[in-house]
Amino acid sequence: MDLRAAAAEVRAMAYAPYSGFRVGAAIRAASGKVYRGCNVENVAYPEGTCAEAGAIAAMIAGGDAEIAEVTVIAGGPTPVAPCGGCRQKLVEFGAGDVPVTMCTVDGQAQTVALRDLLPGAFVADQMGGK
Ligand code: THU
Repeated sequence: MDLRAAAAEVRAMAYAPYSGFRVGAAIRAASGKVYRGCNVENVAYPEGTCAEAGAIAAMIAGGDAEIAEVTVIAGGPTPVAPCGGCRQKLVEFGAGDVPVTMCTVDGQAQTVALRDLLPGAFVADQMGGK
């Protein structure tokens, strides 16, 4: 399945009445299965969730826990950069070489390795492996 198409399709389902910024994310797990999520805002603004968080939740609920590839798409003028919190969430389930592709709806795309999105991530090794 084409990850960009999957992310664009779920972006249409985004609930973003406050920002008007609709985001879709698609994750290909190591198993090959594709999971999707969109942003879900809330009138209590901090309670909103990002598209990446939704896709990760779907992945875990689907029985996968290893990310192979990520694509995010939004309607801004330049490729959307996953927020800091989402970078940390992605690192929990993805190795440093996982490609993260950031897309605009008008066809721009930029791919970076997860380790380059979040250098110096907080990882379990820093707690002695726990
Ligand atoms: N947002 C995402 O869903 N993912 C990102 O990577 C960046 C930001 C959402 C959160 C909020 O609903 C809206 O975009 C504006 O910040």
